[in-house]
Amino acid sequence: MSEMKVFRKLDALRAFRRENRDGHWGLVPTMGFLHPGHLELVRRARADHPREDGGRVAVSLFVNPTQFGEPEDLAHYPRALERDLQLLEEAGVDLVFCPSDEDMYPPGFQTYVHLEHVTQPLEGASRPTHFRGVATVLAKLFNLVQPDRAYFGQKDAQQTVVVRRLVKDLDFDLEVVVCPTVREADGLAMSSRNARLSEPQRAAAPVLFRTLQIARQALEEGERDGDLLRQRMRQEIRSEPLAELDYVSVADPDTLLELPVIGTSALLSLAVSFGAVRLIDNLPIDDLKPINSEPIAE
Ligand code: PAJ
Repeated sequence: MSEMKVFRKLDALRAFRRENRDGHWGLVPTMGFLHPGHLELVRRARADHPREDGGRVAVSLFVNPTQFGEPEDLAHYPRALERDLQLLEEAGVDLVFCPSDEDMYPPGFQTYVHLEHVTQPLEGASRPTHFRGVATVLAKLFNLVQPDRAYFGQKDAQQTVVVRRLVKDLDFDLEVVVCPTVREADGLAMSSRNARLSEPQRAAAPVLFRTLQIARQALEEGERDGDLLRQRMRQEIRSEPLAELDYVSVADPDTLLELPVIGTSALLSLAVSFGAVRLIDNLPIDDLKPINSEPIAE
């Protein structure tokens, strides 16, 4: 199969998948309007599933209505289907799935996937039904495409925790692969939302990554007090007049609960608004030296 197949209908996709059981499949779920961050996941999936070994790469393009809180957000979500299809063809993708809202959520739809704890803090606190929508659509996509591996960006850190938990708890037979955040030259994490920033807001937006780096440096220098680190992060965001702070977090990477004291790992994350545009970013930290681990000098 060298030509890219595009499926809009669930039945057609399922029939094709039944006829093509051989080889390993990688899936990259997206909401389209692709940028280099998405394409990096596709590149990684292609590298892990070479055509010569019978590997297949599938990408879904679906602006999932159930993960949006405000109807305006959904209406304003940018779309560029033709351009996305061209980019995916150039990236050597085998199959694209771009279903309609009505086919994914037909009248009478009422089954949702709810994760109890990891969906509560951080993004879940500001967007209470968001992860219910994400988990539900991913469960559907995993059932439809039946991938051996599914690819996600570290950019959405809480989403990666949710999807790992979902796969484990509901016994999906696939491996979750998390790829590093792709950034602009000035450190701003790539996102379809960046295009909505005004020029001064865009110039101010690197404050997110700068704040994360300041916290990382403090950790590397031995600061282990969670409240002090969060305080330092808040202070940096407040120094930027165009930025409005939503949250800063220094949390356990698995439970996402705030750490009073940092041990050997932490997830630094934050959400900041510039006018109507809300941006998130994060930095996972591992392998910190435990405090008091060095021998006391004589
Ligand atoms: P979307 O925002 O389109 O992102 C699709 C994938 O691309 C996600 O795994 C996201 O983390 C990753 N991604 C986005 N920006 C990135 C960047 N700068 N660097 C690396 N990876 C990046 O996330 C979703 O869609 C949806 O919630 C979805 C999982 C498709 C479910 O609807």
